[in-house]
Order: sequence, then structure tokens, then C-alpha cells
Amino acid sequence: MGLEYIDMMLIHSPQPWNKFGDEDRYFEGNREAWRALEEAYKSGKLRAIGVSNFEKEDLENILESCTVKPMVNQILAHISNTPKELIQYTQVQGILVEAYSPIAHGELLKNEEVAKIADKYGVTIPQLSIRYTLQLGLLPLPKTANPAHMEENADVEFVISDEDMDYLINVDPIEDYGDASMMPVYGGKMNLRSILSMIFRSFRS
Ligand SMILES: NC(=O)c1ccc[n+]([C@@H]2O[C@H](COP(=O)([O-])OP(=O)(O)OC[C@H]3O[C@@H](n4cnc5c(N)ncnc54)[C@H](OP(=O)(O)O)[C@@H]3O)[C@@H](O)[C@H]2O)c1
Repeated sequence: MGLEYIDMMLIHSPQPWNKFGDEDRYFEGNREAWRALEEAYKSGKLRAIGVSNFEKEDLENILESCTVKPMVNQILAHISNTPKELIQYTQVQGILVEAYSPIAHGELLKNEEVAKIADKYGVTIPQLSIRYTLQLGLLPLPKTANPAHMEENADVEFVISDEDMDYLINVDPIEDYGDASMMPVYGGKMNLRSILSMIFRSFRS
């Protein structure tokens, strides 16, 4: 990469992507990968190290044997999909929870229930979604290719009431994440066809 150091490096998933959600949690492999990250961290090549898509048992596996604790666990968390127990466990360990896809990969934009709450606060659905994760003590990782959206997404100085937070936690889960549905983290299974389709789409865009 030609860099002196990298800001942060994560284990993207405790399991190989095409085995996501399987019973085998690859405990030994994760401990070895973690040891390598610790070494790079201690030598100054990495400024922060963490994990992603780790469940409680995956975190316990690392915490039992590590010399440096993971600094973050990056997980899927958004209105209608809030893994409360995992969030609480992770936070109690002093590990920052990062919420990836806080707007549900864009799918929340179509949700009328969520739109009503956003209207009540005079904000957009992305603003409500981002504020929701902040109020849960999470670090949201929204993505946008649009500078105006980026500015809007940073403007979240309002407060969602406790009552509305409860309501948003209980919004029905999203069943279809659109073109991202084949991704394991959204419930899909990776096979040759889905991988080729993803490569094709990334070339087209
Ligand atoms: N660790 C993991 O396994 C994992 C898995 C998935 C994703 N991630 C990471 O999480 C980050 C975000 O995830 P994501 O892209 O899936 O989902 P996201 O941030 O929930 O949603 C992105 C979508 O929302 C739209 N959007 C954002 N702000 C908007 C606004 N103000 N108004 C209207 N539309 C808006 C974007 O379109 P525009 O571009 O048009 O604004 C885009 O279509 C990425 O950095 C990704 O790498 C990590």
C-alpha cells in the first residue's frame, strides 16, 4: 500500500464469507488472525484493530486469550434490526459498536412507518436512522455518493423521545434488502451466480 501505518484493520467476519451463519465459528482461526493483528498493532503498523459481524461467542473466544482487546465490533444495526443483547454485551466489554448499513442499505427509505416518525421531527429518514443509532451509543457508518446527502446525514442535532425509540426498535424487520439481498449479512447465501452478478454490477456502476 505504500503507507507507514493503517488507521484501522478489522476481521471482517468470524467465518469465511460463503460459510456465514454456519455452526462452525472457526475459533482457532480467529485467535490466530487476532494474534497477527495484535502483532501489527504493537509494532505501530495499525492504529486500531477490531472485528466485524462477531456474535457474543466469537467475542468471548478472542477476549479469553487476547493481549489487546478488540477496539470495535462492526455489526448490522438499524431501525427494525437492533441486536440489543449483542450491543449490550459488546458495550459492557468496553468495545465500541459500529452500526454498518444504518439506513438498511437504503431500504428504510421505503418504510412508511419510519417516514411518519421522521416527519414528526421534521427530519429525513436517513437523519432519523442515524440519530437512532447514535442514541443507542453506536457509531453509525452511513454511506453516500452524494455530497448533499453527506451534509444532511451529519446534521442530526435533535433528540428522539424514549417512546419513539421504543417504537423504532420494534418496527418489523426488513425481509428484502433489494439488490444486496444475496449478501450473507443480509440473509443471503453466496454462490457462484451471486458473486458473478455482484462483480458485473460493480463494473456497470
Ligand atoms: N462489515 C460488514 O460486513 C459490512 C457489511 C455491509 C456494509 N458495510 C459498510 O457499511 C457502510 C454503509 O453501508 P451501506 O451502503 O450498506 O448502507 P447505508 O449507509 O445504510 O445506505 C446507503 C444507501 O443510502 C442512501 N443514502 C444515504 N444517505 C442518504 C440521504 N441523506 N438521502 C437519501 N439517500 C441516502 C445511499 O444513496 P446515495 O449514495 O444516493 O446517497 C445508499 O443507497 C459502508 O461503508 C459499507 O462498507 C460493512
